[in-house]
Amino acid sequence: MSTGALAGVSMLPANAKPLASAVQDDVPIPGSVDKALNIWDLKAMAKERLTEGHFAHIVGGAADEITVRWNREGFDKIRLRPKVLIDPTQIDTSTILFGQKLAYPVLLGPTGGHRSTHPDGELATARGAGHANATMVLSTVSSTAIEEVVKVATQPIWFQLYVMRDRPFTRDLVLRAQAAGATALCVTVDTATTGPRNRQTRGRQRGLPSGGRGLPLLQGMKRSTSVESDIFSTSRDPNLTWKDIEWLRSFTQVPLLLKGILDSADAERAIQEGVDGLIVSNHGGRNLDTSQATIEALPEIVEKVDGRIPVLIDGGIRRGTDIFKALALGAKAVLIGRPYRYGLAAGGAPGVSRVLEILRRELEMTMASTGRTSIAQIDRSVFWS
Ligand SMILES: Cc1cc2nc3c(=O)[nH]c(=O)nc-3n(C[C@H](O)[C@H](O)[C@H](O)COP(=O)(O)O)c2cc1C
Repeated sequence: MSTGALAGVSMLPANAKPLASAVQDDVPIPGSVDKALNIWDLKAMAKERLTEGHFAHIVGGAADEITVRWNREGFDKIRLRPKVLIDPTQIDTSTILFGQKLAYPVLLGPTGGHRSTHPDGELATARGAGHANATMVLSTVSSTAIEEVVKVATQPIWFQLYVMRDRPFTRDLVLRAQAAGATALCVTVDTATTGPRNRQTRGRQRGLPSGGRGLPLLQGMKRSTSVESDIFSTSRDPNLTWKDIEWLRSFTQVPLLLKGILDSADAERAIQEGVDGLIVSNHGGRNLDTSQATIEALPEIVEKVDGRIPVLIDGGIRRGTDIFKALALGAKAVLIGRPYRYGLAAGGAPGVSRVLEILRRELEMTMASTGRTSIAQIDRSVFWS
């Protein structure tokens, strides 16, 4: 990670400054993304700027996209209880995760191929994240090499691993990510197969481009020439079992999280296997359609885990109130996927910063209106029932 705060941040205007507390320091980032008042505005801007195929790739889910909808509806259903006559002026959104201080509990989740959304790809994302003091999780299917990303990053970079059929290559990839400076490893366990991503496929059938510009982290990897069934990838290993988690732990020196846990028995097993953290996720509704909404799966996982390891969540987070609800149900932090891809499409690094700024500011507003001035004060008593 480079140390000079904004050194090399070519995408950001010269007079832009790092985000401090949005409540006290409400200085907009110059440029068009500034006009975006919420994530939906940035989604509309992304739709305008991207080709139909590229937009479909980001926005789409599996099959009928019911889980995509449920992820949102799960948050909308929860009612909050406001609290009045409490001094809300000193709000502290910071929290500690794996010994790392987060300015606010939002990370950029792993999504592949950022160059399909913006020419500067993951470099723009890392700069935007750095500007907004947020950690970014870099995908295995990144369109930029991790060493390049780390060079421009001013905040920690985590690495997301898809375990590949080529196991020696997978091992080397983890070692490479660690050597480059990744501070945590998120092993995605929910993608033995993707779902039928009809929206994306239809776009491709109609000749709409959706891909990125190559996958530098996968260069030199052996692909399988014949696979068990055409539902499986020639590169990602569908045959990933708990034994492999033990194998990964044997050479991983950073905290190891499993991404894609929805079932509490799996959560318990993960703890028994010595995993350091969990990400409650249904891959943004892109794999198993009609799988449970993440916010609805969270309570039973938190109950089972009972504070032994941190539980994070992603899926459908679009508002500060969503973050607040996830924290109240026991999540330590949240990750976002599509929202920052909208920001990236809309305006590169400042667009990514803008997404984070909006969410942080909305979280602060929610905390102020519910009389919670620190993250530790956010518990289930914030709910109506
Ligand atoms: C365009 C796109 C690409 C994604 N690529 C990956 C990936 O490479 N690895 C992974 O573990 N998850 C991937 N995901 C899933 C996200 O990490 C995350 O679970 C999901 O987007 C969260 O839901 P949200 O988009 O509603 O915030 C991707 C999601 C999107 C939208």
